Amino acid sequence: MSGVRFPFEPFRIKMVEPIGLTTREEREALLQEAGYNPFLIPAEKITIDLLTDSGTGAMSQAQWSAMLSGDESYAGARSYYHLRDVVQRVTGMPYFVPAHQGRAAENVFFAALDVGPGMFVPANQHFDTTRANVEVRGAQALDMVVSEGMEPHNLAPFKGNIDLDRLARFIDEMGAEHIPAVIITITNNSGGGQPVSLENIRRTKDLLAPHGIPLVLDAARFAENSYFIKMREPAAAEMSVAEIARATFDLADAFLMSAKKDAIVNIGGLIGVRDGTLFQKISTELILREGFITYGGLAGRDLEALAVGLEEGLDEHYLAYRVGQTAALAGRLQEAGLPLVEPPGGHAVFIDAKEMLPHIPQRQFPAHSFVVEMYRVGGVRAVEIGSVMFGGVDPVTGAERFPELELVRLALPRRVYTSSHLEYVADVCAEIYRRRETLRGLKIVYQAPTLRHFTARFSPL
Ligand code: F0G
Repeated sequence: MSGVRFPFEPFRIKMVEPIGLTTREEREALLQEAGYNPFLIPAEKITIDLLTDSGTGAMSQAQWSAMLSGDESYAGARSYYHLRDVVQRVTGMPYFVPAHQGRAAENVFFAALDVGPGMFVPANQHFDTTRANVEVRGAQALDMVVSEGMEPHNLAPFKGNIDLDRLARFIDEMGAEHIPAVIITITNNSGGGQPVSLENIRRTKDLLAPHGIPLVLDAARFAENSYFIKMREPAAAEMSVAEIARATFDLADAFLMSAKKDAIVNIGGLIGVRDGTLFQKISTELILREGFITYGGLAGRDLEALAVGLEEGLDEHYLAYRVGQTAALAGRLQEAGLPLVEPPGGHAVFIDAKEMLPHIPQRQFPAHSFVVEMYRVGGVRAVEIGSVMFGGVDPVTGAERFPELELVRLALPRRVYTSSHLEYVADVCAEIYRRRETLRGLKIVYQAPTLRHFTARFSPL
């Protein structure tokens, strides 16, 4: 095995946390108890946890020490002003509020925009909570990612781009008055963590501006997207990652951010807007649902950790290691023969379960079947991004729907696992892959009416 090399971890480990070790029998019993849904397995019973890169990062000594100076005042805390300075430096957005996490920001923002029945919110691709927050208001969430974004082996550099022709046609057909916003998710989590180019964002802005439709960034992974732009978009090669991030935000009318990703905090979110009137409506909603505008559901210490993390996440040595680590895991899996979404994304490696397990139809959840087997074999927790997450009954048409892509996501927490942890993960996946035709599908025995993947229970077929 050649062993794909990447920049070594640009940090030392100062505090350690024991890892959960279990026997195969224990894991079999735990799977049964959890209704074959890894979300319902206690984290102590997980050996390597790649469920998500959200809120699972390791904070730096700078973040921990900033937390001790958190100002816990209800209104106008010093920590708020610290965060405000950083948010303005990084994003340039004139108005912002904190929120406790990304989906809270989505709820407040869509309420302030009066999103409701008869409206459409197009995106390159909605993340599940964004889609749900649009649909729960009776509006329709539409995905318009470029066609190469749906082709796992297409090596195009910006497979997260929005299809501008399709978006232009859609605006003409539906009328701008029915489109309260267009969302660009950077990077495109649901589509394999693929980046969006600066040019695509600029052209989207040019398309929307004459119609008065706001361009909204779902900016959870803004730093990784900016790093990919630096690596892949020749016009931006000489810019720093921070400059690219700033140029990206400069094109947007607003952004929503789950700060639990690239800002490397365990909890937190942001809403940024350019328009003062919209900001006032957001403030009213925020006070009702999250808290006063200078803390938005967070403690003062959380605001401090976020202020430090927003800039740490843009460090280019860190990003080279981060994106390199993901690519290295992808390389190991490909050597073992597993079909992946290529090129690998920033925060996660995505395995193409449709190609890997053709004998399991989508209605029997092939990607989820692989996820269950990863836990059974190695105590590794991954997540399905396929027909459990995005399937089910369409709330508008009532028809059974299946997503185009059927993926297993191995999300890498930031600064948490070393390369030997990831070699173990690759070995577990390779072992299952060698006997993939022995895997069987599952059926759902319980599901919630929305966001069913979190709590669904299954039984093996
Ligand atoms: N937008 C994107 C692109 C996300 O990936 C997430 C969360 C959210 C919004 C919602 O933010 O969790 O802070 O409420 N993604 C996590 C994941 C949960 O595992 O990909 P949140």
